[in-house]
This record gives sequence, C-alpha cells and structure tokens, in this order.
Amino acid sequence: MTDLSAWRGKSVIITGGNSGIGLEAARALRAAGADVVLACRDLARASAVADGMTVRQLDLADLDSVAAFASATTSVDALICNAGIMGGPLLGTVQGHERQMGTNHLGHAALISGLFPLLEAARGRIVIISSIAARGGKLNARIGVDDLVSPPGYLSGPVYANSKQANLLFAQELHRRVGSRVAVVAAHPGVSWTNLFARQLRDEGKAWLVPALQLVRPIVFQTAKAGAQPTLRALNEASGSFVGPKRLNQYRGPAELLEVYTTGSDPAVAARLWEVTEEVLGAPLPA
Ligand SMILES: NC(=O)c1ccc[n+]([C@@H]2O[C@H](COP(=O)([O-])OP(=O)(O)OC[C@H]3O[C@@H](n4cnc5c(N)ncnc54)[C@H](OP(=O)(O)O)[C@@H]3O)[C@@H](O)[C@H]2O)c1
Repeated sequence: MTDLSAWRGKSVIITGGNSGIGLEAARALRAAGADVVLACRDLARASAVADGMTVRQLDLADLDSVAAFASATTSVDALICNAGIMGGPLLGTVQGHERQMGTNHLGHAALISGLFPLLEAARGRIVIISSIAARGGKLNARIGVDDLVSPPGYLSGPVYANSKQANLLFAQELHRRVGSRVAVVAAHPGVSWTNLFARQLRDEGKAWLVPALQLVRPIVFQTAKAGAQPTLRALNEASGSFVGPKRLNQYRGPAELLEVYTTGSDPAVAARLWEVTEEVLGAPLPA
C-alpha cells in the first residue's frame, strides 16, 4: 500500500472520480486527508458517492467544459487524468472529434494545459492513466490531424488502443518538457472490474454478454481497489516513471515500476503527437 501522508491537506483533482479505479483512488486519498475534487460529467451520480469530497462538473468530451473547469479552478497540487471510455460506435465530441480520442487524450491534454500554471505554482504533479491496450497502439511519426479527430475506417478497439498509446506518449513528452517543474507519471490499472467493460458491451449492442463477463470476473479481473494502486503509487514516484501491475502479462498484481512500452517511448512519435494535438486544440501546450 502506498503511503499517502504527503498528500494530507493537498488539493487533488481526479477526472472520472465517481466510478471504478478513479473512485477507489479518490477514497484512499480522502482517507489520507487530501482535499479531493471529483471532476465528473454527471453531478448527480458523482454526488451520490462523494461522501465529503468536492464534486465539480467536467465533460472531457466538450472542450468548452474543460476550459470553464480550468478557469474556475483556483488551486491544485495534483491532477489525476483518470476518466476514460472504451469502445462503442463512432460518435463525436461536442467539437466533432472522434469520442474515444477526444475524451481520453484531447480533453485531458486541454485540461492539463488549462491547469498548468496552477500546477507549476504548486510544484505539483500530473498522473496520466494509460492501459495495457497502449501496447497495440499504431500512432506513428507521420500521423496527421485526422488520425486524432476522424480516424479512417473506424474500428473501436484499435481507436481505444491509439487513445491509450496517446496517453502514454503524451506523459513521456510532457515529462521531457516540464518534468523538472511539474512531475508527470503514467500508470495503468491492469485489468480491473469497473464499469468500463460492461458499458462497452452495452454500447456495442452486446448487453447479452454482460452476465458472461460477470461469470469470468474473479478469473480475469482484479478488483477496482487493486486497480487503483498504480494511480496511488504514481503520486509518489519520480517524474517520467510508469507504474502498473507486472504479473500475468501485466493483467494484475501489486503496483510496480514498469518499462515504458515501445509504442509509448519513441520521442519522434511523441513529438509528432504533441504537434498534432496543439493543431487540434488550436493553442500551444505547456512547455
Ligand atoms: N478497468 C480496466 O481494466 C482498465 C484497464 C486499462 C485502463 N483503464 C483506464 O482506467 C481509467 C478509468 O476507467 P475505469 O476502468 O475505472 O472505468 P469506469 O468505471 O467506467 O470509469 C470511467 C470514468 O470516466 C468517466 N468519463 C467518461 N467519459 C467522460 C467524460 N466525457 N467526461 C468526464 N468523465 C468521463 C466516467 O464517467 P461516467 O460514470 O459518467 O460514465 C467514469 O467516471 C480509464 O482511463 C480507462 O481507460 C481501465
């Protein structure tokens, strides 16, 4: 278990903190005395589980909501970019960008940008949640705007993998650029029982498979509480680190320091992702 005592009295914002590994990480931080902000798209659902934590509205699939959230924030010591969606049909964000990349990567990149001055003033920290799916990402040094906002021949699985590869690449590039001023650590939760998989099946018209998923749950999945441990350990590790379980092909186990996947470690790909992200967001990222 991670010692979270350094976070007592500190302000920690966690996106998607109302569910899954985000909620478990938020509860552990709250128990350690942190001032936790759940940044969530559904205020009612978040308030129902908040238990003394602050709830604020944030829809990562709407860049105006991200900008409003950032400009209304007055202090933050740590930002945990945890929210995510997986799979589903081709849908767009409010700005018309493909929804998985729009939510998982672009919304978080915009949020990091908006909160960066506060994080820098606090000599704070950013934790970015990636996935083992990042190992299958196909982003390369020749990507263009369309690869992020309107991927050709949409297939939900590969697009999710690319969005999680983008999370890992972005964490590395951000660390290279700002790591001496704001620590940046990436993490992944292995394969953990949360709403992510059942929602994907429902979104893809396969709700009938959810009971089967429940059946294999103890074999395939670790608990959401176990899946939150890499997030918590990432709060104490050096900038540039990557944290996750190692056992069973990284599906489960205690949070350990990992080597960054080859798909997430090429500086040329990360630099290109940075440029294209700036182009889509229409503003420079923190440097
Ligand atoms: N579970 C796993 O095995 C696994 C494996 C690898 C990586 N991950 C990553 O772990 C992170 C957390 O996922 P989870 O497994 O805990 O799933 P989860 O229980 O479904 O939680 C996802 C959270 O993201 C929020 N969210 C989705 N779209 C959003 C948006 N547009 N704006 C703001 N919040 C939004 C969800 O809000 P609502 O409740 O309103 O939908 C929810 O709070 C994700 O980044 C995921 O990719 C999970």
